[in-house]
Amino acid sequence: MKKIFSFLLIGTMALGMTACSPSKPAAAAPAESAKTEAAAPEAAPAAAEELPLIGVTIYKYDDNFMSFVRQNIEKAAEGKAQLIMNDSQNDQAKQNDQVDAMIAKGVKALAINLVDPGAAPAIADKAKAAGIPVIFFNKEYPEGTDKVGYDSAWYVGTSSAEAGVIQGELMADAWKANASWDTNGDGKMQYVMLMGEPGHPDAEARTKESIATVEASGIGVQELAKQTGMWDAAKGKELMETWLAAHGEKIEMVVCNNDGMALGAVEALKAAGYFTGDKFMPVVGVDAIPEALDLISKGQMAGTVLNDADNQGRATIELAINAALGKDVLEGTSWVLDATRAVRVPYVAVTK
Ligand code: BGC
Ligand code: CA
Repeated sequence: MKKIFSFLLIGTMALGMTACSPSKPAAAAPAESAKTEAAAPEAAPAAAEELPLIGVTIYKYDDNFMSFVRQNIEKAAEGKAQLIMNDSQNDQAKQNDQVDAMIAKGVKALAINLVDPGAAPAIADKAKAAGIPVIFFNKEYPEGTDKVGYDSAWYVGTSSAEAGVIQGELMADAWKANASWDTNGDGKMQYVMLMGEPGHPDAEARTKESIATVEASGIGVQELAKQTGMWDAAKGKELMETWLAAHGEKIEMVVCNNDGMALGAVEALKAAGYFTGDKFMPVVGVDAIPEALDLISKGQMAGTVLNDADNQGRATIELAINAALGKDVLEGTSWVLDATRAVRVPYVAVTK
């Protein structure tokens, strides 16, 4: 009988998300929707038209993690800014058009979740020509936001490598605590890797650092398969099915760059009879979305790393409002900028 070691890394933010957010991303909304935020219940509430108008794009609404960032952006803007929200539907050309349209409508700042991280300089050029500031978030220009060619461009996200290191640590600790996970008894971890989109700094760094951290802890590894599942549950499921057919019980660990793909992998594993009787497979992700926390509590995921959607959404809108009002972007906030003009919200690791 295999000993199932269930590993839970959660933080207060994850609990907050569980408590106040629907567990499924909202159904695809129209590509653009104007939102007028309600004014705060103060003595003299600001009229909506006095609030700064901020143009926001999300690379696609149909992304598990980004649905939480989006909700937190809307919540953080309440009574402080009017938002124009856009679903870029995973299409950079569409996003470029949305940016042009928002500039034409007179937005005072842009908050842009790029489709293609490499498109940052092109968007920065548009913002620069219009004389408005831009806050990129979640998808970082790989060379750094200080290299996009515009001084009034900033980034809000994470330190990409950090999630990989934390994920690697939790894999190594759990592996050492569960000798039975080494099913072929060769002392090495035979793993498959579901990667996020190529060229996304989070995906590249998580892929590299997770395995490097396992190896640094003294555990040998062997990669059986590695492919991009584009952050997506359906693609993760498909790839896991393919890998189960090709490698079957040789697989000892499923490493996923995010929880969305981990949910898909768990689906495929369940269909192949895993998680019943003593048939078990450790699956790890990143984000700590509610569905993943649920799987962890059921022993069907071995762990995840909290990607703080709440604070990333809040920091994005706080910087955007300051920039829109011509203030120092950090005024009245507790965020700090690094040398590349980026605010890096920490991943939160809190054990059960
Ligand atoms: C998240 C992924 C998400 C991606 C979108 C990453 O930081 O972990 O879940 O799909 O951002 O850009
Ligand atoms: Ca092994």
